[in-house]
Formats: sequence, C-alpha cells, structure tokens
Amino acid sequence: MKQPADWVEHDTAPALGARDFEQIRLLAHGTFGLDLKPGKEELVSARLRRVLRQGGFQSFQDYYRHVLADRTGVALAAMIDALATNHTAFLREPDHFTFLREEVLPSLAARETIEVWSAACSTGEEVWTLAMVLNEALPSRRLAIAATDISNKALHSAQAAEYAQDRCQGVPAAWLSRYFVPGNGPGRTYCVAPRIRSQAAFRRINLVEPFSWPRPFAVIFCRNVMIYFDRQTQEQVVGRLAASLEPGGYLFVGHAESLTRISHALDYVRPAVYRKPGKKEGRWNKSS
Ligand SMILES: C[S@@+](CC[C@H](N)C(=O)[O-])C[C@H]1O[C@@H](n2cnc3c(N)ncnc32)[C@H](O)[C@@H]1O
Repeated sequence: MKQPADWVEHDTAPALGARDFEQIRLLAHGTFGLDLKPGKEELVSARLRRVLRQGGFQSFQDYYRHVLADRTGVALAAMIDALATNHTAFLREPDHFTFLREEVLPSLAARETIEVWSAACSTGEEVWTLAMVLNEALPSRRLAIAATDISNKALHSAQAAEYAQDRCQGVPAAWLSRYFVPGNGPGRTYCVAPRIRSQAAFRRINLVEPFSWPRPFAVIFCRNVMIYFDRQTQEQVVGRLAASLEPGGYLFVGHAESLTRISHALDYVRPAVYRKPGKKEGRWNKSS
C-alpha cells in the first residue's frame, strides 16, 4: 500500500539527538542571534529535514560538519533560511502606518529627502508598504528606503517585488492600481511599479553584527525579528539601531517585542514605538 508522503519523510529522516540540537542551537545563536530554547527540537528537526534530504546527508552530525566546513557561507545561509521565520504581509500591524502617517510624517514634510530603514525586511512587503504610505503622504519628496535582511533569498524576492494575488489582499484597490503593474505569474500576480522600486535600495545586514550607515535615519522599522533574540542580543541590536537614528527619530518594533525588559536609551512613545531623545525644539526643517 502506498504510504502518505509525510509518513515516508518522517520515517526515513535522521533523528535529531540532544547533541545535534545543542550544536545547531549554538551555531544559530552565534551567527544570527536566534534563541532556540529547549522545546524547539521538533521545530529544528522539521525545518532542517528538507535541507538534509536535498544535500543527501545521512545524519545531523554530517550536516553540521558540512555547514562548519563550508567556507563559502552558502550552507550557513541555507541553514539560516530554513530556521528563520520569514512571515510578513503588506500593512502588517496597520496602526504603525497610521501613526507614521498622522504623527511622524507631518514633521518631516519640509524635507526634500526622507530616509527610512526597513531592517529585517523579509520578502519586501514592509518595504513597499512604507513606500506607498510615504508616497501618499509626501508625494513630491525624494524617498530613500534602505531595505535589509540577513537572508539573500528573502532579499532576492523583495527586490523582484512580485506578489501573488492572495498576498496582496490587504492592499487598498487604489494602491494596487497606482503602485503596481501586472506581474508575469504564474497565476495572477502584482509587481511593484518601477518608480516605487527605484525608491528602495537593498543590502544584506546581519543585525547581530556591527553595521554602519553614512547618515542616520528619521524612521527605522525593525519588526518581528528581535522576538527571536535573547535579551542580551536584543539590547545590543537596539543599541545599534538607536545609533542609526537621528535625534528625534522613531524606532518601530513588532507589537510582540516590547523593549521593557531591556535597557536602552530610547523614549517610549506608544506600544511598539520608541523615539531617540534630543530632537531640537520646533519642527524639523530642511537642514536638520
Ligand atoms: C518574521 S520576518 C519579519 C519581516 C517584517 N519585518 C515584518 O514584520 O513583517 C523576520 C526576518 O528577520 C530576518 N532575520 C533573522 N535573523 C536576522 C538577523 N540576525 N539579522 C537580520 N535579519 C534577520 C529573517 O531572515 C526574516 O526575513
């Protein structure tokens, strides 16, 4: 009798032992900050099973040794892609965009260039949501959106900027016609229009390693990634993000990522929104 595919996969997959889990846990933590707590063994095993099968590895030990030995970084990148969660959506956590439009952007209106950063942008929905909100609110400004992620695969999708119809369900119809063009498929797809795509620049940044930018940002979105970091790593990352903000600049984090447990130098504004102190009195002007 033919067995269901998941039975076959489960039955033939190498088992993840306690030592395998500990090695992968330490590697994931050391390289990209992922905090795999005890109890995540099933998740690790399920997510890496396909990678092991595709690479023809007989055991997690073989696989782990391969990742360590591969000096190109390709194997490590594939491991990160398999373990990291890429889930995202257009207009995710919509009150952030309302607050941005109503409370933050009016104070940037006098600027010729608006610079914002989507850190850990995954497959780009957050980047293009920011672009659309900014274009709606400040139509004639030069927009410079920095978009970064640790995953080259996610960055590749973000840059391709083509999304299946069901992924665009939350996008207002007016935005779909204004900011998208028909995609090439398969199926019905929407592609972000070239004019909007030219407003974003993509770069690979691992948030747990030092990074720097030529100029500070007025706004940083770094959402739904720090939830996977331990407290010490969160503190380091928030410190570096704060250093990349201009005085008075805003940091948006995911709603599940309150910064209350960590020490940082930002002011609390409202749930999941923080602000760097030191803004000059009055509204920002062109030279600020
Ligand atoms: C759940 S997605 C969040 C996407 C988007 N910010 C949002 O809120 O919808 C998390 C992203 O964080 C990225 N990521 C994980 N660890 C990272 C690290 N150390 N540095 C940069 N990006 C990382 C993953 O590749 C993934 O694309």
